[in-house]
Amino acid sequence: MADVEGLVQAGDVKATGAGSSAGFHLKGCAHLDWGMKNRLSRIIKPDTGRTVMLAVDHGYFQGPTSGLEIMEQTLEPLAPYADCLMLTRGILRTSVPAGCQCAIVLRASGGQSVLSELSNETWNVAVEDCIRLNVSGMAFSIYVGAPHEHQTLVAFSDLVDAGQQAGIPVLAVTAVGRDMARDARYLSLSSRIAAEMGANFVKTYYCENFERVTGTCPVPVVMAGGKKLPEMEALTMAYNAIQEGAVGVDMGRNIFQSDCPVGMIKAVRAVVHYNEKPEEALKIYEDEKNAR
Ligand code: R5P
Repeated sequence: MADVEGLVQAGDVKATGAGSSAGFHLKGCAHLDWGMKNRLSRIIKPDTGRTVMLAVDHGYFQGPTSGLEIMEQTLEPLAPYADCLMLTRGILRTSVPAGCQCAIVLRASGGQSVLSELSNETWNVAVEDCIRLNVSGMAFSIYVGAPHEHQTLVAFSDLVDAGQQAGIPVLAVTAVGRDMARDARYLSLSSRIAAEMGANFVKTYYCENFERVTGTCPVPVVMAGGKKLPEMEALTMAYNAIQEGAVGVDMGRNIFQSDCPVGMIKAVRAVVHYNEKPEEALKIYEDEKNAR
């Protein structure tokens, strides 16, 4: 029997509202269940409302990628500065220590390679495996306006249903087909469609008039990195995206293909979490590079 001797009654309290769940740091997410919010908070940090996601999922369609040949060697020095790793389950199981403290956003779409037409992608990871892997989010590329638009949007909706059931947030990646322009008109169209279909957050490219993209998307937007740029340009792009409403970045090549990846991720972190100007952030990168 439980020991109830000496139990003291709770004191009287006045209704203060403390402990209510009214506030949440991410737009469009206030009414999600606790598990969803907790997972989103692992990805997008409550103290700043921002995230540095390190995208290393390139191998799912392009095989060994420059900078990602031996995943452990790339990830080991970078993981301490990433809030989240975006990768495939194959790399998670083979190349990431289980003690890793980064949130995981697992790529849950695939089914194509660089050798074929890019847009023929579908949902390819069971949600049970995502639960088993303790992931904080599942990523899926949609191809609005591309030949397989319908297929990717329907499969995306199925993933959203599965995510809702399991309490795992879904990240829509607005992949851009070969014939599509990376402009605000297209990216806001694609991002908004993703949110309307139930994406919990959206990854999309930076463009001119980016505020149109972030402003018309009812859930958080993370800026995609894209091809390798000179460090100053990449930091400026990240800075502009943050100032124009992105909650963070999901960058790959601009970090791991830099001549000083650790310096670059530290600089990106300063821009994202502390609103550091690109010129100041570049000094962080250069200091790290010169210290080697
Ligand atoms: C983009 O759709 C894919 O997820 C990529 O494999 C990756 O995330 C791209 O990262 P980045 O363009 O920054 O190298």
